Amino acid sequence: SYLRHVDSRKLMPNGAGHIPHLKAVILGEALASEEDDLVLPSKEFSDQANVHSPEQYMEMYKRSIEDPDGFWSEIASQFYWKQKWGEKVCDENFDVRDGKIKIEWFKGGITNVCYNCLDRNIEAGLGDKVALYWEGNEPGLDGSLTYSQLLNQVCQVANYLKDIGVKKGDAVIVYLPMINELPITMLACARIGAVHSVVFAGFSAESLAQRITDCKPKAVITCNAVRRGTKPILLKDIVDAAINDSAKDPPSLDVCLVYDNPVALKREDTKWTQGRDIWWQDVIPKYPSTCPVEWVDAEDPLFLLYTSGSTGKPKGVLHTAGGYMVYTATTFKYAFDYKPSDIYWCTADCGWITGHSYVTYGPLLNGATVLVYEGAPNYPDAGRCWDIVDKYKVSIFYTAPTLVRSLMRDGEAYVTRYSRKSLRVLGSVGEPINPSAWRWFYNVVGDSRCPISDTWWQTETGGFMITPLPGAWAQKPGSATFPFFGIQPVIVDEKGVEIDGECSGYLCIKKSWPGAFRTLYGDHERYETTYFKPFAGYYFSGDGCRRDKDGYHWLTGRVDDVINVSGHRIGTAEVESALVSHPQCAEAAVVGVEHEVKGQGIYAFVTLVDSVPYSEDLRKDLILTVRKQIGAFAAPDKIHWAPGLPKTRSGKIMRRILRKIASRQLDELGDTSTLADPNVVKQLIEFSDS
Ligand code: WT7
Repeated sequence: SYLRHVDSRKLMPNGAGHIPHLKAVILGEALASEEDDLVLPSKEFSDQANVHSPEQYMEMYKRSIEDPDGFWSEIASQFYWKQKWGEKVCDENFDVRDGKIKIEWFKGGITNVCYNCLDRNIEAGLGDKVALYWEGNEPGLDGSLTYSQLLNQVCQVANYLKDIGVKKGDAVIVYLPMINELPITMLACARIGAVHSVVFAGFSAESLAQRITDCKPKAVITCNAVRRGTKPILLKDIVDAAINDSAKDPPSLDVCLVYDNPVALKREDTKWTQGRDIWWQDVIPKYPSTCPVEWVDAEDPLFLLYTSGSTGKPKGVLHTAGGYMVYTATTFKYAFDYKPSDIYWCTADCGWITGHSYVTYGPLLNGATVLVYEGAPNYPDAGRCWDIVDKYKVSIFYTAPTLVRSLMRDGEAYVTRYSRKSLRVLGSVGEPINPSAWRWFYNVVGDSRCPISDTWWQTETGGFMITPLPGAWAQKPGSATFPFFGIQPVIVDEKGVEIDGECSGYLCIKKSWPGAFRTLYGDHERYETTYFKPFAGYYFSGDGCRRDKDGYHWLTGRVDDVINVSGHRIGTAEVESALVSHPQCAEAAVVGVEHEVKGQGIYAFVTLVDSVPYSEDLRKDLILTVRKQIGAFAAPDKIHWAPGLPKTRSGKIMRRILRKIASRQLDELGDTSTLADPNVVKQLIEFSDS
């Protein structure tokens, strides 16, 4: 149905009537739209852009849908393949009713992602170009690596890993802060065909242990400590606890490689397990700086990344080499209008998918210069980001709405103190960006000069799915706009029926794309159940979406029990299970509430075991329990003492009601007659301010 609209001579699906106007505006004619807030790229920007007009996008998009094999194989051919893929570019079964879900791209093609990031670019003459700039937490501490230097370091780590017995297909857990050694380790794994699983260094020991138990790595790579802002974080202690925890579940780990970060902690103060722990700096430099590539099939795994779902334990999202490589490189190039002269900075941590696809792989595949920042974005003050932008002449700046909102609160003076002249494209990711934050980002940070790419995607999708192409069309603040090449978003109703025109419903995707995840590690059934069964024939994103009269997409947030806190995905079930593990907590129900800076905050209703009194100490203790079990970023913002929880007669907690109570929309509680005990609601409301 998407193409039907395209064919109906409207440039954008579902009647994007503004596009002819957009053309007029690009040509310099004024457009006054009463009802829409259109923000247009300048003529200068569009003229130089990789995709400079809606027509050009439409032509490319149309081809990508009508001839995906041709479209993607042409792009894939720009990479190095030891051996070309077999007959099929894409082989998929996307419909559970036809059997097992299967997604394969470039199967039979033999390649290596590290080779394509480094060796290939060096051969093309980029050896002396800076690949990574590193800016430390403390202003004044910095460093850089050219493509050749990066390759040498990657090879040393790769050789070390091989030496300790890491082989193709083996998992390696990486628990590092944002230092160059993090992308170096990822690339070293990719070089030898090992599967990295980076765990965000803000996760607790228990979360890390859970991941170690699940993927059984051959080694863990970490750092003794790091400073973010004024706080030292003792990573090695967390790793020790995690390894001890997971050792209960054999086989236990025998190698822990530790990067020595003397700025945060002295060597002699680092706790040490003889025989298992080894200092990075003591071994890595001894290894040769060349290392042959382990050639892999396009469908061999590249990495595992755990993410939260609405139920149970975190899911190991598995991405494979070939399709992911092609997709992240292409999305990076177009969504940020990348040019070889750009200096690119993404504030995300490599512990999340954004750092995989758009700190490490996407940019390096394009031969880009990437900035890696170790510290907190507001340290020593709220001007740090713009200080960094000026220092490195950053031209593409990609961040999350939560940071925009928090800097917005600190005031414009921190921004305008710096020139920011180098900026040309801004990006946003992680959650819907509210129009006022969008405008501040656009007007204040970007001096009303830089288009904003609001990129909607997910850990599962590998790369951007719905995103502006900054030179091609008018933006609407807060809308992620239109689909990337090859992506067919559909909006369905509760029954799974596609709805058209101006509508809102559940966001699904029709047909696979190269960057899609292939399975959940060790649990293909959960993969099918979670993503492909809710609406047979489609991939279900878990997000709600509205499509406006012009075909623009407006993401409306998760429709499942996942909360998005500062762009971090947190399963309510995980927080609840942490809370009920506290001996004095009988029951807990967690919902998301609007939060001025974080987007959503975590609001927990807690029922205590009989006769335990409510107290401030207990409240703190419950929050601490969640911090310890998941990580500080998952700490509840509010504990609401609940004498009882609203349940149906069959015992199901009615979260709809809890959400209304949490957001004080007390006149919108709706029908409470199906509750087992309607009095519970009254009690909860009375307890609201206790
Ligand atoms: C969820 C995915 C993708 C990298 C960061 C988060 C939300 C993400 C946007 C956006 C509206 C967004 C969705 C999605 N989300 N980007 N631009 N506009 N919502 O990855 O942890 O896998 O979370 O983040 O709800 O489902 P993730």
